[in-house]
Amino acid sequence: MLKIAMLSGSLRASSTNSAAIRAAARFAAACARTQVEVQICSIGELPHYSEDVEEEGWPATVQELRSHIESADAILISTPEYNGGIPGVLKNALDWLSRPDGNGSLQNKWVATVSASPAAFGAVWAQENLRFVTTRSGAKLINDDLVALPNVFELIDPSGELTDPTALAKIESLVDAVISHSIDIAGRDLVCPA
Ligand SMILES: Cc1cc2nc3c(=O)[nH]c(=O)nc-3n(C[C@H](O)[C@H](O)[C@H](O)COP(=O)(O)O)c2cc1C
Repeated sequence: MLKIAMLSGSLRASSTNSAAIRAAARFAAACARTQVEVQICSIGELPHYSEDVEEEGWPATVQELRSHIESADAILISTPEYNGGIPGVLKNALDWLSRPDGNGSLQNKWVATVSASPAAFGAVWAQENLRFVTTRSGAKLINDDLVALPNVFELIDPSGELTDPTALAKIESLVDAVISHSIDIAGRDLVCPA
């Protein structure tokens, strides 16, 4: 069984990035090639990162997130763009996961990225920023190309779910790549080559 941890960089109740993650979770759960367990991780309850707090021991919410990430074969993150970068709440989560420096939860983890925005570029700056920060923390990227959902408010239905066929095809293809990649390395060495 493969385990994929998924997280959205938006806390908004009607978040389009969370909708993208839910769509990805549905595709993964429906995978015919192998059984996939999906863990959608929440990041809104994490305390602000502080070395003082870390020294006292991982807070429970941080520990829970770290366990989900560490036990996953792959991680899928969807990010909005706030002022040209990833939202602070996502950076905060990634900072917690980056610790201890050089040996954090993201070290040698396979990460796939996607971004969604109501604007025309689909939050590609934020996605580049996400890829920079995660790889800086030791993660390895699964998708070579950015997967972006521009004009995303036109791609969701009134209930807030992603329904646009082209957008769904992009997400399905990304999930497929994540699963293929994970199957490829499962049974061999899950630690990525340097
Ligand atoms: C503080 C702030 C900054 C934003 N900056 C950008 C930006 O730089 N680029 C962009 O495409 N959208 C920007 N937006 C709009 C977000 O893309 C939009 O709110 C989007 O719906 C957030 O993603 P979500 O639907 O997953 O919550 C910004 C929104 C906020 C609240």
